[in-house]
Amino acid sequence: MKHIIITGGAGFIGSHLVRHFVLKYPNYWIHNVDKLTYAGNLANLKDIENAPNYTFHKLDICDAPAIEFLFEKYFVEGVIHLAAESHVDRSILEPLAFVHTNVVGTTTLLNAARKYWKDRKDVLFYHVSTDEVYGSLGPEGFFTEETPYNPRSPYSASKASSDHFVRAYFHTYGLPVVISNCSNNYGPYQFPEKLIPLMICNIIQNKPLPVYGKGENVRDWLWVLDHCQAIDLIFHYGRVGETYNIGGNNEWRNIDLVYLLCNLMDEALGRPKGSSASLIQFVTDRPGHDLRYAIDATKLRNELGWKPTVSFEEGLSKTITWYLENKEWVEEVVSGEYQQYYEKQYQKRIQPNF
Ligand code: NAD
Ligand code: TYD
Repeated sequence: MKHIIITGGAGFIGSHLVRHFVLKYPNYWIHNVDKLTYAGNLANLKDIENAPNYTFHKLDICDAPAIEFLFEKYFVEGVIHLAAESHVDRSILEPLAFVHTNVVGTTTLLNAARKYWKDRKDVLFYHVSTDEVYGSLGPEGFFTEETPYNPRSPYSASKASSDHFVRAYFHTYGLPVVISNCSNNYGPYQFPEKLIPLMICNIIQNKPLPVYGKGENVRDWLWVLDHCQAIDLIFHYGRVGETYNIGGNNEWRNIDLVYLLCNLMDEALGRPKGSSASLIQFVTDRPGHDLRYAIDATKLRNELGWKPTVSFEEGLSKTITWYLENKEWVEEVVSGEYQQYYEKQYQKRIQPNF
């Protein structure tokens, strides 16, 4: 049995990845290390919680002794690191929390791996990162693995910093690492503060749909399980010390995407055409809002044969169905302090001086 730690496994992408690995690789024992912040939810993994090759550990990745204990107790041979503070808007309000988890937490994990693995080369530290480290594109061009880092939000600055630490441990200490930088994901179990699930949930509740600025910013959307498949390939076949970009080749202006969601939701809810779109409200823009992200995933395609498999049409339809069928999950995750946080943010955004 090979013991592998997946951090952040109770979050959106992490829970899909944990399920994928637990079911596909019975010879791996998956240790899900997660602090269960507002974004982590064990309900995401109900279907596999009793699997014989799965254990959950409620831990903060900044807790060095606890992380080292795990490495020692289970002879851990691989780490796939996803735990992070992940929402740009929150990073604008509370940058230090992002430095803490994303930078200090990542470095704490690297230290534990280095201490326990010493000079072993048959192990791997896989760091999951974002395309946002590259900054913002104009209307043309794509991010490649050679694009210089130019992070512009506290979130992307903290992720860029963590990427640098991972590379530094490779160059300085010879720790076997690999990094991937992915574009925006969507799918079931995404916390409804991110664009797609927020819009779906607000439409269901007939609440305003806040579009930042003029809605002209562009994101490259990828079905979450296509991301997981890319992580699987890179974890097993990626070259050590390398970086791989992952993207959907699927660019959408926010406003066009919101209109598309409105139309799909009108159909799904049996409401008259145009009713969801009447909820759209243009609100004050996000400070420092990156204009456009777009990934060139040629390296991953050429080296490892990866390509996205789920069309946006199919993925959005599956996502909408999931949120409509899982209203209890939504109610559970937004209960507590999130509702107040959201209302406060929204009220501020509709002020002219936000
Ligand atoms: P998420 O916010 O849904 O989940 C993050 C998880 O990390 C949660 O379960 C949370 O409880 C856990 N966590 C947070 N702080 C922790 C700590 N100190 N110790 C232990 N666990 C902690 O995030 P996500 O959208 O699933 O993103 C996962 C990773 O993928 C992140 O590293 C993110 O930067 C990266 N990424 C996300 C996207 C995207 O579109 N969502 C795109 C590219 C890369
Ligand atoms: P988000 O899902 O927060 O991801 P990221 O900022 O990491 O790309 O936002 C996606 C895009 O949608 C981004 O351009 C900001 C915009 N947006 C809105 O217009 N309204 C919203 O309520 C949210 C959450 C995002």
